[in-house]
Amino acid sequence: MDRDGLPEQPMVIGFVQTKGGTGKSTLALNTAFSATMAEAFDSVALVELDPQGTLKTWWQEREQMGYDSGRVSFHHISSTQREVFQKGIQSISDYNALMIMDIPGEGTGRLHTRFACAFCDLVIVPMRISTNDESAFINNLYPIIKEIISAAPEKRGRFFVLPVFTHPLANPRRCFAYFEDMLPPHVSCLKAVYPARSVYENFNRRGLNLYEYERLVDSNKKFKEQVKRAIQDVETISKTIIETGREKNGSVERPTTKS
Ligand SMILES: Nc1ncnc2c1ncn2[C@@H]1O[C@H](COP(=O)(O)OP(=O)(O)OP(=O)(O)O)[C@@H](O)[C@H]1O
Ligand SMILES: [Mg+2]
Repeated sequence: MDRDGLPEQPMVIGFVQTKGGTGKSTLALNTAFSATMAEAFDSVALVELDPQGTLKTWWQEREQMGYDSGRVSFHHISSTQREVFQKGIQSISDYNALMIMDIPGEGTGRLHTRFACAFCDLVIVPMRISTNDESAFINNLYPIIKEIISAAPEKRGRFFVLPVFTHPLANPRRCFAYFEDMLPPHVSCLKAVYPARSVYENFNRRGLNLYEYERLVDSNKKFKEQVKRAIQDVETISKTIIETGREKNGSVERPTTKS
């Protein structure tokens, strides 16, 4: 529900990176299951476009374990055929209030990445403070962003970097300032961070999300505290995504056919 108690407008979010291992899949699955998203959206589609199938394997494990996914559904689209790929994305978004996509920069092909990013209300690029990640972004993903904006200028202002694996005690404002300074035009820094937490080493994705993991470690006080902090990170990121998306959707009419 939004501030006036009305249902949220449908929203499409993509986590994308050409650089591997920046937390896309972990962020996609945990934001999809966050309490914030559950409160705001009646139905949530978690969509993996990565042929690697990290989330597909994870979801199969979930099903084998019999976990209840509530209002979250999972979809894996890996077709190399353009029409199948594009229609798949369109139809999932038609039937879900919120769609969260895990978009790989490589492996899907440039055209697929471009289509998926152009389909999003918000594109979130998880990025470490690292010159390696920054130059990979400028060389690989930024040219795709520029193509999207030149074909559809209304997509301006929808691309955000999320600082990831930051030190848990780092001042987020310093991270924002760092990225605002180095980012090229049309890309901003999301006003949230995704700190590095050792809990993700133990949380080895046996089909669990963070919330289920918290229940599993209920008797271990130290672990439970760590998981709680990780959950807080994910809730803050989810809230920031909704607020940012709401601002953007309020200013520009959505170009899709959603009901
Ligand atoms: N906040 C975090 N702190 C520490 N480790 C994390 C965090 N989030 C994720 N990880 C770990 O980092 C690794 C990469 O995460 P993940 O698989 O989500 O990234 P990815 O961008 O989807 O990778 P890929 O490019 O392979 O698809 C995993 O081992 C994951 O458990
Ligand atoms: Mg992944």
